[in-house]
Amino acid sequence: MSLRIREVTKHFGALTALDSVSLEIARGEFVCFLGPSGCGKTTLLRVIAGLEQAEAGHVELDGRDLIELPAQARNFGVVFQSYSLFPNMTAARNIAYGLECRRQPRDRIRKRVDEMLALVGLQDHAHKLPSQLSGGQQQRIALARALAPDPQVLLLDEPLSALDAKVRVDLRLEIRALQQRLGITTIMVTHDQEEALTMADRIVVMRAGRIEQVGSGRELYGRPATRFVAEFIGRLNLLPQDGGMPALQHATETGAGRPAVLGIRPEAVRLHPAGTEGANHIPATVAQVVFLGSMTQLVLDPGNGMRPILAETHGPEAGGFEHGAQVVMELPADQLRVVEWQ
Ligand SMILES: Nc1ncnc2c1ncn2[C@@H]1O[C@H](COP(=O)(O)OP(=O)(O)O)[C@@H](O)[C@H]1O
Ligand SMILES: [Mg+2]
Repeated sequence: MSLRIREVTKHFGALTALDSVSLEIARGEFVCFLGPSGCGKTTLLRVIAGLEQAEAGHVELDGRDLIELPAQARNFGVVFQSYSLFPNMTAARNIAYGLECRRQPRDRIRKRVDEMLALVGLQDHAHKLPSQLSGGQQQRIALARALAPDPQVLLLDEPLSALDAKVRVDLRLEIRALQQRLGITTIMVTHDQEEALTMADRIVVMRAGRIEQVGSGRELYGRPATRFVAEFIGRLNLLPQDGGMPALQHATETGAGRPAVLGIRPEAVRLHPAGTEGANHIPATVAQVVFLGSMTQLVLDPGNGMRPILAETHGPEAGGFEHGAQVVMELPADQLRVVEWQ
């Protein structure tokens, strides 16, 4: 089975929310739509769900075009950011709701509700109202409700955004484990790169109604196709190769004489004692030291109008640098990549 989105276009008045978006998702895959607020993630998810009508394009499941089908006729489970549980119904009744709409026999519904409560670890909360549950528990119930009718595809729109940091981090891994156990094809919308990296098989980076790049987190981080992706996934030091900047050796071919903007990840910056010389070695002052437990972040100021560089070091050597120290930073040529030609 696969879900195919073909050339979907959607406008709101003069605004192009989706501009001929195409994408294929394999059975059992967990895909995240990632991008800044307003880039069209929710609109695309709603078009897939049948909650929003596209002007052009197709949504196909197993080769069958769904575009004319209303939302209720598509076998998709949907969870939104805000707890969309019915406030006057118990957790169990919320989960049962979709099954009652489908007129399933009562004892089958009861059995399925118990199964779903066990699936999300909330057997003991069946008779509580949403207001008696924590945010994390409410989202688990919303998930159980979406999964109860055994949908072919699960659609999640920022399901963790309203939760506390700790709960959010726990639920990421929990939802991912659940999705893998069930093998259910899942699309999740998020603006949080860490969430996407933690949960997704593939990430779809969106920008202004278009898909910028699709790939695994590793691919997007290691080989970003555009400056936008390079800056959106992980941290990146940008080094425009113009006036104030010392010329740096790098492995990329030249862009017909145009100056390049080079990028380097913080963990690729190497540190040496003051006085060390070599290619791409630049003296700098340690302007800031941020100890983060498993790693230390250093802000290195080379002066001379060059912008400060963020470096990350792990392990015991990280302790050796102090605020104000003179060091030499090395920007290894094989770690410098052209992210844009000017
Ligand atoms: N019902 C609507 N009416 C008018 N504009 C909308 C509507 N829904 C979304 N938009 C606009 O479409 C763009 C994409 O919105 P959305 O898909 O919600 O973005 P995202 O989920 O990536 O934050 C935004 O500029 C938003 O303001
Ligand atoms: Mg949204």
